[in-house]
Amino acid sequence: MSELIVAPSILSADLLKLHEQVREVVDAGAKWIHVDVMDGHFVPNITFGPKMVEAVRKAAPQCTVDVHLMISDPDRYLRDFKNAGADILTVHQEAAVHLYRTIQRIHDLGAKAGVTLNPATPLELLNHVLGEIDLLLVMTVEPGFGGQPFIPFGVTKVAKARRLLDSVASEAYLEVDGGVDEHTGEKLVRAGADVLVAGSWVFGHPKPGERVRKLLELG
Ligand code: DX5
Ligand code: ZN
Repeated sequence: MSELIVAPSILSADLLKLHEQVREVVDAGAKWIHVDVMDGHFVPNITFGPKMVEAVRKAAPQCTVDVHLMISDPDRYLRDFKNAGADILTVHQEAAVHLYRTIQRIHDLGAKAGVTLNPATPLELLNHVLGEIDLLLVMTVEPGFGGQPFIPFGVTKVAKARRLLDSVASEAYLEVDGGVDEHTGEKLVRAGADVLVAGSWVFGHPKPGERVRKLLELG
């Protein structure tokens, strides 16, 4: 496995101190920042648009900006998020009707293409696109909110995803999102995850940097 990456999710950050909070996790070793985009349609909650991606890009110019699109009809917004500074655009299989074409569009824009699945969606639905993607994100909570409890079958799903990616010699990142803390994180790293997204566990702490360092120690 490559070096473990920690991707703090700014969904749980104090937005009045966004710059400071981003700097703190980056200084602690976070190489990616995860931005959760929600549209109130694909998921019940509404969050950030391209402006937020632009702000994160400015706060952490050297970081990978990892944009998780929990939106219906993601094709409509790919260009806006790429222009705002996204490095990775991750779409939901459940929201992308023509997933292969969406992946091509992301690549045409010059971004890395990620695909993600809700907890109950089987990995097998991605069999034909495994060779096309740069990132596979396994959701271990239902998307929409931070601070939800980790769904335990996530660990076996991640292990299975690792085997699937290895079976096609894929170099895609295997990322996990939802309910990650030091305990679930340890199991996920053992199962083969190479990117851990963590929101409330990191930013719910008075010193988010300490939490990032704890997760990095799992690598
Ligand atoms: C949930 C989002 C997550 C969220 C994770 O829909 O995709 O990225 O920020 O939050 P925690 O780490 O609190 O489960
Ligand atoms: Zn997310």
